[in-house]
Amino acid sequence: MTTLIRDDDTIRAKADALLAGMTVEEKAGQLTQYFYFGFMRDTTGESGDDLHIPNQPAMVETALARGGAGALLFVNDPAETNRLQKLAIEGNRHGIPLLFGFDVIHGLRTIFPVPIAMAATWDPATIEAGQAVAAREARAVGIHWAFAPMVDLTRDPRWGRIIEGAGEDPYLGAAVAVAQVRGFQGEGIGADERIIAGPKHFAGYGAAMGGRDYDEANISDYEMWNTFFPPFEAAVEAGAGNVMTAYMDLNGIPATGNRWLFTEVLRETWGFEGFVVSDANAVKNLEAHGFAKDAPDAAARGLTAGCDMEMAVSEPVYDHLADLVSRGTVDEATLDASVRRVLEAKLRMGLFDEPYVDEDRAREVLNDPAHRDTARIAAEKAAVLLENDGLLPLDAGALERIAVIGPLADSKRDTIGPWCFDFDLEETVTVLEGIRDRVGDGVVVDYAPGIRPAQRTFPSMFDMFGNNAPVDPEGFDDELELARAVALAGTSDVAVVVVGEWQNMIGEMSSRSSLELPGRQLELLQAVAATGTPVVLLVMNGRPLDLRWAAENVPAILDIWYPGTRGGEAVANLLFGDVAPGGRLPFTWPRTVGQIPMIYNHTVSHDPENQGKRYWDEASTPLYPFGHGYTYGDSEFRNLSLDRSEIAIGESVTVTVEVVNNGSVPVEEVAQLYIHQRHGTSSRPVRDLKGFQRVSLASGETRRVEFTLGPKELRYWNAAAKGWVQDAATFDVWVGGDSTATLGASFEVTGPARDAG
Ligand code: NOJ
Repeated sequence: MTTLIRDDDTIRAKADALLAGMTVEEKAGQLTQYFYFGFMRDTTGESGDDLHIPNQPAMVETALARGGAGALLFVNDPAETNRLQKLAIEGNRHGIPLLFGFDVIHGLRTIFPVPIAMAATWDPATIEAGQAVAAREARAVGIHWAFAPMVDLTRDPRWGRIIEGAGEDPYLGAAVAVAQVRGFQGEGIGADERIIAGPKHFAGYGAAMGGRDYDEANISDYEMWNTFFPPFEAAVEAGAGNVMTAYMDLNGIPATGNRWLFTEVLRETWGFEGFVVSDANAVKNLEAHGFAKDAPDAAARGLTAGCDMEMAVSEPVYDHLADLVSRGTVDEATLDASVRRVLEAKLRMGLFDEPYVDEDRAREVLNDPAHRDTARIAAEKAAVLLENDGLLPLDAGALERIAVIGPLADSKRDTIGPWCFDFDLEETVTVLEGIRDRVGDGVVVDYAPGIRPAQRTFPSMFDMFGNNAPVDPEGFDDELELARAVALAGTSDVAVVVVGEWQNMIGEMSSRSSLELPGRQLELLQAVAATGTPVVLLVMNGRPLDLRWAAENVPAILDIWYPGTRGGEAVANLLFGDVAPGGRLPFTWPRTVGQIPMIYNHTVSHDPENQGKRYWDEASTPLYPFGHGYTYGDSEFRNLSLDRSEIAIGESVTVTVEVVNNGSVPVEEVAQLYIHQRHGTSSRPVRDLKGFQRVSLASGETRRVEFTLGPKELRYWNAAAKGWVQDAATFDVWVGGDSTATLGASFEVTGPARDAG
């Protein structure tokens, strides 16, 4: 067990003492994090190989032996973290241990629903519990730091990394960011069984032009402060120990070399005291961007911009730092400040006292059944019921034959989604398995894939992480298989059709130019629906897809995301009504790719009456609004009241509403509060989320939910004033189950506008 060290003075004194005895070379070594691929397992078993980059392990081990590394990434085996830790400690005169970082995105061994799905729970407690499990597993194998949460907002679902974030809204994004930081770090850095959280990628990565990964982002200050910064600021306020840079150019300056971001905003404005790491090779890439002249210039500009540590895939450019200091290009005090932050992180984590992990204990923690249950509950809470004409929940007792259709229905690898590495496919429960287990022997559950999985047009390095649904299944006769699926549906009482994207079609380097269902999935769905057998459509996804046909023609649609290790079990529990769906969309669901970007909190401009008719060929309304999702049963919002109808700037108003379950089954609701400022020194969005609360209600139950609207909720960043302001204005407020809520009231804010920073 590590000790929680909270005494900042002791930490600082120890860091200073270490620093005083270090050479410039030793200091520079602390600022490099190396990729260590040598023992990364190919957990899919498909390549029959280690994911091995030739000579890379040797380069890293040489650096460790000369005390030239501060951190490693991508080691997740406890014996390996111990071995490498020993090499590092023995390799430097001061016995300074390594920090091990890892992409712990939605679980380590226990895989949780993907991050966008966790955001769809609208339940900070569930999100925190998930990352606490991830932290516990990670810490047990010797990982000290997660490259997560990704708190980049995006308004462009073509961008593959939408799956890693919390969607489009800064308020929800901030709440999800805080819950994740708490989950990873617990009471603080160094807490038992917790790890350092590293919100990323600072900042604006989600605005990549055209949704193309890594492409430039051009973001006004107004959008930066009102939209993209709030989740980062919230994560910093929650105590995150690390921040990662972003790959792209931001308004003409690469984010990783952007002094304004890291020094002026992050440290000077928000008071961030942790350490900053670059994204992989991002300091080196300052040269590729056409920003730095050469590798030494990249190192100098990265460090002086505020990037303390370089994450290096190949030879680190921070190797030049010692030389740059001796030539006077980089100030030694700047180097010292960065090294001090890294040393402090190691001291706070207790690594000098306990650098190694117990391998038996690691096995025990990784196999903890309580972790799997937490993942199942999260998957149940994350699912979003997009449509239901009453077909759901299914009554298992009234069914004799269920057809389960679509290759994603029985793909273990797709069930857990992208961006995970240490998973166990054996224990992963697919939708087909979950349904079979739930209904038992009394109901015949037959399966037909119907079609083969679609293949991406351009192969990516991410394909090496495997795609379990074989793209070219042996002996697969396309027409015969389609006919078999249709025949199966025709002779069943209900058809559960699973459609979506294969897990490697989304994530890093997996942007799409279309939102259509890939491959022949729509054709399969249409053919199955044409049999007349009722269809339940399950959507496995991390971005909105073009569901226009399904929305019109299919009676029940449940978005199950990539639900994780126990996903199939959770889905079955939802289908048969053991639990009520209560997830809500964390993004606006467009009808078609041509509508992108489309957000709920847009402003009104000319001809507002025709806001929904901006296109010649398609409605300019979404298919599903932000916050949308149904539950089973019958619930309503009523009796919205305000404790005051007028407040002065700086004061608060309390909004109360009742959530009522009028039906005979439990319901899951999310009370969502939106505001609109009618006039002021800027024109403000038609609606802005400023509060939410998920509630479970038993049959007949009524719950009062209370929200406070004060300066923090009513202020915004004003482009003319170049700062936060709060206006005297009339405000509308609504509470309901999505962003089109109609139950509303209004109040006045009086007094002169003032700086609200
Ligand atoms: C690149 C990704 O952008 C970042 O999110 C990730 O943490 C690093 N690679 C390390 O894998």
